[in-house]
This record gives sequence, C-alpha cells and structure tokens, in this order.
Amino acid sequence: MMKILDQIEEASPAISYAGLIERIEILRSTLRWSSRLERADIDKLLRQATSLRDEVMQLSHKERFVQAATAGEPQTSAEQSRGARRKALLERSFIFEGTFGDNPRLLESLEIAEKAAPTDLPVLIDGESGTGKELMAKVIHANGARADKPFISVNCGAIPDNLLESELFGHRKGAFTGASSDRKGKFESAHTGTIFLDEIGELPLAGQVKLLRVLEAHEIQRVGSDETIAVDTRIVAATNRNLRKLSEEGRFREDLFYRLSVIHVTLPPLRERRDEIPLLIAWFCDEAAGTLKRRPVRLTPRLRDFLLSYAYPGNIRELRNVMYRISCLAADMADIEHLPLDMRPAAPGSTAAQAEGGQASGEQPISVANLMSLSDAKRAASDDAEKAFLERGLREVSGTVAELARRIDMNRSHLQMLLKKHGLHSKDFRNRNAPPTKNGANERDEEDDEG
Ligand SMILES: Nc1ncnc2c1ncn2[C@@H]1O[C@H](COP(=O)(O)OP(=O)(O)OP(=O)(O)O)[C@@H](O)[C@H]1O
Ligand SMILES: [Mg+2]
Repeated sequence: MMKILDQIEEASPAISYAGLIERIEILRSTLRWSSRLERADIDKLLRQATSLRDEVMQLSHKERFVQAATAGEPQTSAEQSRGARRKALLERSFIFEGTFGDNPRLLESLEIAEKAAPTDLPVLIDGESGTGKELMAKVIHANGARADKPFISVNCGAIPDNLLESELFGHRKGAFTGASSDRKGKFESAHTGTIFLDEIGELPLAGQVKLLRVLEAHEIQRVGSDETIAVDTRIVAATNRNLRKLSEEGRFREDLFYRLSVIHVTLPPLRERRDEIPLLIAWFCDEAAGTLKRRPVRLTPRLRDFLLSYAYPGNIRELRNVMYRISCLAADMADIEHLPLDMRPAAPGSTAAQAEGGQASGEQPISVANLMSLSDAKRAASDDAEKAFLERGLREVSGTVAELARRIDMNRSHLQMLLKKHGLHSKDFRNRNAPPTKNGANERDEEDDEG
C-alpha cells in the first residue's frame, strides 16, 4: 500500500486532480444535454464519465492521505457514508460545478438543489459572504432543464438606483438622456434560462415592486415603452442579509420575500463546517498548483494548525484566496510568514503575544482575535466529542442501534436523531472485521449496499 502511495507522490508533478475533475465535469454536463446522441448512448457515456470521475476522486483522496500525514486522521466510517451520499448524487448524474466538500449540511443543500433544479420554482440562497451562494446558483442552473440556456447574473447592489430599471428590463431609444439606442435588459437576456439576482437585499423598494410584477405576470416593459414582452426566466436570488428581518423592518417587501423563497437554501459559514477545512485545503492546494503550474505546496504543521483553527470571516473565498496566495509565494513548504498580514497570528513581542505567554520557542501563539468565538469553539468541541462517543459506541455494538441505545440508556429515536445530525450510518459499522482489500474495493462495496 505504502509503495503505491509513494509512487503516486513521486510521480506527482503539477498534475491537478481538481483540474482533471473539472474537465470531467464539463464533459458530463455537455454530454447530459447533448442533442445529437441517443438517450441510451448518453446514459452509457455518462456512466463511464462518472466512474472516471470517481476514480480520479479516489486517487486524489489517496494522495491527500499521504500529504495530510501530519493531520493523521484515519478515514472514519462517517466519512464513508458522506462519501456514499456524494457518490449517490454523482450516480444520479448530479453536476457539482466544482462544489467541493461533504459536510452533512452542505450535502443537504446540494440534495435540495438537486430536487429544486428541474423545477421552475424560485430559489433563495442565503449565507455569509464567501459561502458559495453564486456557486450554488450555478449548480441549480446546471442541473435543470435550462442548463444549455443562458445564466444571467445581476448584482442588485452594484447598480445605481436610476439605472436599475433599464438594466433589468431594458429601454427604448430616447427613453432618457443617454439612451441612444434600444437596449435589452437582463430579464430578456435570460429568457428561457435563469436570472441570478445577487445581493437581492440591496434592491431598493421601487425595484422590489417592479420585480414583484415580473414574478406575477411573467412579462416586462422596457423603460419608455408600452409594449409588454413575455419573459420565461427562472429566478434564483442570493443575499447575505436576513431578508425576513429586513422585511419585518419594512426594508424588504414581505410579499416579494415569500415569492422568492419558495425554496430556501441557507449555506453554513465555514466555521460551522470546520470538518471540511482539511478537504478544502487539499482541494484548493491542488487547484492552485494546477493554475500556477507547480507542485502542490506543502504546509508546515504550525501553518496547518493555524489554518484548521482560524475563524474565516470571509469563509470559503478567504480560504481559497489564502491557498492561492501561499501556493504563489512559498517555495516547497509554506509557513505562517506566507499568510497575509491581517490574517497572521499576533507577532511575538506584541502585547497580545506576551499576554498569551508561556511559549518560549519560536512558535507564534495564535491571537484569540483570529480564532473562532469562544461559544463557537465550545460548540465545535462538544460536537466533536459527541460524534467520537457515538462512533465508538457504534463500533462496540457493530452498528446495532437498539443495542447501543440500551447500553448508553438513551431513547432510541433520540439516538437516531443524533446519528443523523453527525451523518453517521449504523450500516458502516457492520462487518468491520471483513479483511480490507488492497485497493479499497471493500469500502466501495459497502457503500453500494446502501443503495
Ligand atoms: N463548496 C465549495 N467548493 C469549492 N469552492 C467553493 C465552495 N464554496 C465556495 N467556493 C468558492 O469560493 C469562492 C466564493 O464563492 P461564491 O462567490 O459563490 O460566494 P458568495 O456566497 O456568492 O459570496 P459573496 O456573498 O461575497 O458574493 C468562489 O471562488 C467559489 O468557487
Ligand atoms: Mg456572490
């Protein structure tokens, strides 16, 4: 086993699994909507592309395993069942558009997206900055019947109020000073496709009224024109504000809120899916290596520790940017000094560092200001402990939930709920004694059993 892994490491110049997977994804989405092939051929080719993608994922996983030796985390059963959930999505030809990660909450969002995609229902995506809202909007578009039609993105927060209507609905020549010719608006451009209304919370009230009308009548009027034009656009909106609260404060129309949020997806901040950070580090490391045509950068243990415990106010975007930055700046091995200044732990000698004290070595203590809030840290630790306890218990009873419930004196349905919360599947704890095969085929068979 180690031999195979060693070879992989030796032979890994700047090949980027992320890049390969992305190309396979493009192939899959092109195939899926191909109009020149028979359905049966499409399905066959899709199955082949899917298994190719899966193999590349497995390979990338193995390599990561070696590189992440410092973290030394064995693959737990819970991870296998997440893998199974992700795999199930893949087998149903789900297009990820590069969305990475397998945190139960993210998987849940993807599963909602999968169900919402083929419908024309409006979707509202909310979440903090950098949590992947735009990416999720693309996922919804790519998995729907409009995938080969336009995806038009509008940033509602970036358009001056007086141009908003013309931007969205277009205008007639001479409608206002500067309107030197007829112009199509975003809604018309998105006809038959999807319009992505980003930062919808910034839309002024006047614009909200107009948008509501389009949602109700499915038609628009260009500024300065009486003619109504029918538009068939699927609406996906995103915001990092709390629209419900804004509507309570009278700053966002409640009726519009309800119209937009038929399907509501909330993306969790990265600090609430910390279990995904190692995976994302590896993923962006690969991706950056591919883009920068270099070997994936390696991280010193203290940098890795820092990256694993940092609070990421800028969420996945911040993590991605930092991985690109260190991949660009570091030679073979990246360390704290390659981090941007404002992210770096407090410098030694600063008052904050002295207050922490106790660390005589060159180690720089991480300023608490850069870490998770105390309550987040407590909750995360308590979650981790709870999960470890349950895993241990399930192992002990070989996955018999009723038996575990009895042993720990807990109501069975409560136990089931906790298992679900942590994405643990009792099935994964059965037959632990079966001898594993060289290439991990055993794991895969078990996953298949889950159907
Ligand atoms: N799960 C994910 N896997 C891989 N990349 C991701 C994921 N989520 C987000 N990203 C990447 O992080 C960056 C930010 O994502 P995105 O632009 O979708 O966030 P956003 O929520 O729209 O942010 P903002 O509120 O600031 O507009 C993008 O480069 C995106 O590709
Ligand atoms: Mg965005």
